[in-house]
Amino acid sequence: MFERTPEVKVLRDPVHGYIHVDLRVVWDVINSSWFQRLRRIRQLGGAYMVYHCAEHTRFSHSLGVYEIVRRMVTEVEDIREALSEREKVTVMLAALLHDCGHGPYSHALESVTGVSHEVFTCRIIEEDTEITRILERCAPGLAKETADVIRHTCKNPLMTQLISSQLDADRMDYLLRDAYFTGTKYGVFDLERILRTLRVNGDKGLIIKKSGVFAVEYYIMARYHMYWQVYYHPVARSYEGIIHLLFRRLKETNAEQPLLKGIMDGGNMDLDTFFRMDEYTCSCAFDMLADSDDGILRDLALRIRDRKLFKYTDSDPETDQRIRTQLAQAGYDLKYYWFRDTVAQNPYTPYTVRKDNAIWVRMEDGSVREISEASNIVYSLIHGPANDDHKIFFPEIGG
Ligand code: NI
Repeated sequence: MFERTPEVKVLRDPVHGYIHVDLRVVWDVINSSWFQRLRRIRQLGGAYMVYHCAEHTRFSHSLGVYEIVRRMVTEVEDIREALSEREKVTVMLAALLHDCGHGPYSHALESVTGVSHEVFTCRIIEEDTEITRILERCAPGLAKETADVIRHTCKNPLMTQLISSQLDADRMDYLLRDAYFTGTKYGVFDLERILRTLRVNGDKGLIIKKSGVFAVEYYIMARYHMYWQVYYHPVARSYEGIIHLLFRRLKETNAEQPLLKGIMDGGNMDLDTFFRMDEYTCSCAFDMLADSDDGILRDLALRIRDRKLFKYTDSDPETDQRIRTQLAQAGYDLKYYWFRDTVAQNPYTPYTVRKDNAIWVRMEDGSVREISEASNIVYSLIHGPANDDHKIFFPEIGG
């Protein structure tokens, strides 16, 4: 048996109403310095440069994913029966900790360090940190079991499905949360209906009842719209791109910036250094670089601080060449003042492409179909025109 808290702790949350905690180990993880660190990492990278209220953090998202998983393992009868007590606690912990290895500015800096956040997440859980000790004190072996769910090496695939699949608690929370904090309405879908119609079906794992298909369609549409309206907004890409260029300049000039040294060292970073890498540290460092002797570093740092971002336009060979020529004539170093960025997105990837990870529907007659064969909307989305966007980014010439 796992130790409970003396009373159920509730944390108010604008998306879920309340986050409920009654397990001692969950409460201890929330109060650890590693989890509190997530308050200093924003959820959405550069999107707050577009949507000014999108300042919410990985801390609130992680609590939200935990709450959805907690509801799945307690309120969805099939899941409750399919998992042991220990598996339920493990998957709730994995939900809580799934993003604990995120560094500042999310994916923008993953491209600088070359290390994905999942690597740091598992290191933080297993490398004898405060988190490791909390988990092992609760039950020996729990740290590895939690990391196994996150890195998809867990013996029970249903546990991984709950936090990482095409219909998982991670996506459900971030769509709802990001829609709320950006003020866009596109990310809203009927979480209650999805939870009510979720089932477990032998080899397929999670499956949705036919009567839940409309709710899943809405969820997939939400994902489609949020990507284009929020996550791939060109202004956010411009901001993140300039951060990337600043790091390129730092590397190539060997400039001393002790606060950012960990990021420059990339994958070799020890966890004590990683702990200090948050958005407060970075913005402090950028502010110091705004006084740099190097003109390019100074200019890029000021652009980040004061939101003097690059302009953008659709990329094609002729436009790219014309703008590059103009920039060169105006004296800009193209290595630091021009970049091309391509984004693409599939709101749903069908079984024919990803066999291990599809959304299945249980029809009224008991047969099982993949969602794109049970829904006209999902079918149209995956058979429609290609979903990609190529843009170039550059400073306003003469600006
Ligand atoms: Ni997440």
